[in-house]
Amino acid sequence: MNLRYRKTIIAGNWKMNLNEEEARQFIRQLKPLAAEARWCDVVLCVPFLQIPAAVKAARGTKIAIGAQNCHYEPKGAYTGEISCGMLAEAGVKYVIIGHSERRRDSNESDALVNKKVLAALQFGLRPIICVGETLEMRDNDVTLDVVRMQVKTALRGVMLEQLRRVTIAYEPIWAIGTGYTATAQQANEVNSVIRQVLRDLYGARAARAVSILYGGSMNVSNARELLAQPDVDGGLIGGASLKTESFAKIIEAANQQ
Ligand code: 13P
Repeated sequence: MNLRYRKTIIAGNWKMNLNEEEARQFIRQLKPLAAEARWCDVVLCVPFLQIPAAVKAARGTKIAIGAQNCHYEPKGAYTGEISCGMLAEAGVKYVIIGHSERRRDSNESDALVNKKVLAALQFGLRPIICVGETLEMRDNDVTLDVVRMQVKTALRGVMLEQLRRVTIAYEPIWAIGTGYTATAQQANEVNSVIRQVLRDLYGARAARAVSILYGGSMNVSNARELLAQPDVDGGLIGGASLKTESFAKIIEAANQQ
């Protein structure tokens, strides 16, 4: 973290979990705890159907609501899809783009991720762009090349003045939902390479203002060490974001750095 130049973001990715009542209750419980999070932004990326209830429950609090996906076209014949304009109209502030589960299950390519990023920015949303390598890539020592390319492609056509609304999340695929976490050093190494890519593309000043998160089995016991790294500016949290107690403890860890 580096609070001088950029904000810390603790974002929950609920994936396909929690029903409407559970979402309301979660936010009700989190409210007083989130109010104390002076040094970090708190985001909950909820399933599409839970967005209206979550936005309503989070009104007037520090909690921002995010979506987990979007379509790149503003409207049209795209059965089953949701546009960025619809998300913005519903009160959504952030949208996860290119999560590895979507890259895997829905064949999302870097080029598609790029189209979605541009659309999100156009509609005033804040994209959280996910990048990360498989275990095989790490073993073959191509992690940094892969991540560099993912970031570069995702940002194609993004203007300098739009960059401040972009967040990047490094999520090594082998660490997602597996209980294996990248070490703090591994996370910081990749995050600092991501920042170097941003520096090359947009200059040092713009690059140092971008929050770069880590995701992959972040939990109450490892959050403090990960967040203490200079280039780890927060977390994108799956499993540990489903219970108010564990999510609140991670917010607390961010707040105490
Ligand atoms: P876990 O925290 O459950 O490993 O999930 C991480 C993730 O995919 C967040 O987007």
